[in-house]
Amino acid sequence: MTTLITSSLIGQTPLLNASGCKCDTKTKLTVLYTESLASGICSKSATPKHRSGNPDPRYWESPDGDLTINSMGLPNLGIEYYLDWYKSLGHPEKGGKWRCVSLAGLTLEDNLSMLDLIYNPLHGYYQYIDAIEWNLSCPNLSGHGILAYDLPAMDTYLQRLEARIHQLATPYHHTLTHILKLPPYFEPHHFTQVAACIRKYPVFTAVNTVNSIPNGLVIDPITETTVIHPKNGFGGIGGSVIKPTALANVRGLYLAFNNPDLPMTTSNSRKMIIIGTGGITSGLDVFEFILCGADLVSIGSQLMMEGPGCFARINQELCEIMQEKGYTGLEDFRGKLKTADSRLN
Ligand code: DHB
Repeated sequence: MTTLITSSLIGQTPLLNASGCKCDTKTKLTVLYTESLASGICSKSATPKHRSGNPDPRYWESPDGDLTINSMGLPNLGIEYYLDWYKSLGHPEKGGKWRCVSLAGLTLEDNLSMLDLIYNPLHGYYQYIDAIEWNLSCPNLSGHGILAYDLPAMDTYLQRLEARIHQLATPYHHTLTHILKLPPYFEPHHFTQVAACIRKYPVFTAVNTVNSIPNGLVIDPITETTVIHPKNGFGGIGGSVIKPTALANVRGLYLAFNNPDLPMTTSNSRKMIIIGTGGITSGLDVFEFILCGADLVSIGSQLMMEGPGCFARINQELCEIMQEKGYTGLEDFRGKLKTADSRLN
């Protein structure tokens, strides 16, 4: 099988699992890590302690597979479980699958305490992972809004996180990649504002866009009920129906981060890595995300429905499209979507 060389961060294909999908237990993580063709894996968004999440039914797939809705409520086995599993793999190898832990503390203090644990010298967990995905966009927690929709709050949050990351990581001269998982935005000026906010904090070198579209409602007209029950049936929407929104967010953030007018200091003039997520089911979808500017993509609903074999199929489809078009590497078309005008607003 042809393999694809992408950015130096990652190994071969641009495919990852989306956090939350087939990654909540050691058994599922082991399958993703050892048997799938993903080039990196991410564990289920974790909290400091185990949570059982919302009551069932909390996840639903449409019969034709184009739509999912979930209100899982962050069921996870607690951060130590995931860090212990990564540690059990030994040190990451150069060129191996990269390893990401997703954190979704309910408060800033929760997130800071998980960061403290990652850098605790007693365990040395930081040596066994490559990246942290900071989930600022979980839509399913009663009483908690989505932080990344409140830009002044997100600004303060990132400032506090960055300060603690520097404090903890500096003595080790060790760099993890810090990824921000974002919700979908719906206005062009939001892309500009979010990019400007993130640029202020150079430790964050990657974004993952988009999380599920929040607060959708799916109804079964026969039983006259909602298909999931927590939060009055409201939940995060995924599947191929969200692909246009996800493509727009990848494109919007790509243009915003690469806009020469965006305020930058020399310390943050680095390239922003963009992970595209939302509604990917095929190699053609991946091709479109990369055309919009994605460096990598992650697969959520399709992984839930098809299982980890989806990575090999999607990779093969992408290779075939590239061969047909005469492209030999992802850089040949990354970000090169043809439009009449490259400005955002
Ligand atoms: C959950 C859902 C999300 O979209 C997310 O990013 C994290 C957690 C959940 O409900 O478990």
